[in-house]
Amino acid sequence: MPHRAPGRLRRPTPLTLVDGQETERARIARELHDSVGQKLALLQIDLDQIACTLRSHAERTRVQALSRQVADIARELHDISYELHPLKLEILGLARSLAVLCQEHSRRSGIAIAFSCDADVPDRIGSNESLCLYRVAQEALHNVVTHSNAARASVRLGCFDGALGLIVADAGQGFNDALPSGGLGLTSMRQRVALLNGSLDIHTNKGDGTRISVRIPCRRNATAYDCCALGSPVVA
Ligand SMILES: Nc1ncnc2c1ncn2[C@@H]1O[C@H](COP(=O)(O)OP(=O)(O)OP(=O)(O)O)[C@@H](O)[C@H]1O
Ligand SMILES: [Mg+2]
Repeated sequence: MPHRAPGRLRRPTPLTLVDGQETERARIARELHDSVGQKLALLQIDLDQIACTLRSHAERTRVQALSRQVADIARELHDISYELHPLKLEILGLARSLAVLCQEHSRRSGIAIAFSCDADVPDRIGSNESLCLYRVAQEALHNVVTHSNAARASVRLGCFDGALGLIVADAGQGFNDALPSGGLGLTSMRQRVALLNGSLDIHTNKGDGTRISVRIPCRRNATAYDCCALGSPVVA
């Protein structure tokens, strides 16, 4: 058996750090969903029952309003836990999950976000590749909503020369990417993509919209165990 000198810990690689981060996110998402979410659901039931027993109209209205607030908080919590841990990737597949992501960002922001998936995208995609493209789209769309001031944006999943491709584009105000921003989003996108030997390009000019293009090599030897189905890109 190989012997390791005592006290010498193996330095974590960037890939294990990203893995650890995803595991921790999944744990927090489960706690939020199963523990806090369930408690809020019970609280709402209690409030509804109390409201039914109140004779005074004013008091009943007040308690009903509290119940609605609890429902709003529960909904937000649900959204947050899904963002933290995209369980939908495993269930729905990458294309459908991206379509849902676009739909959710559109609903919250009022920006029209179109999603398309090219016909030549493989039916099964490695789970690391899926998660990477999903996280990149999530951060890029978050940036579109917070910084772009755009009325329209699009997300396209494709396959070009044996590589998976993702393009997130908006018709917003653009930015000067030569200036340091102090943000983490773009750096984290670049690191995720580089870990899978991919490339990320940003085309942007002030006043001229932003396009983020990512390419990740498709793994030929991905097994059924570390693959996600592509899923239908159409959201019911
Ligand atoms: N789609 C976009 N439209 C306009 N500006 C953008 C867009 N995406 C990024 N930017 C600009 O690039 C900067 C850096 O983005 P980045 O995601 O790295 O950081 P952030 O969004 O400011 O903060 P964080 O992601 O850490 O919350 C932003 O502050 C913004 O000025
Ligand atoms: Mg950001």
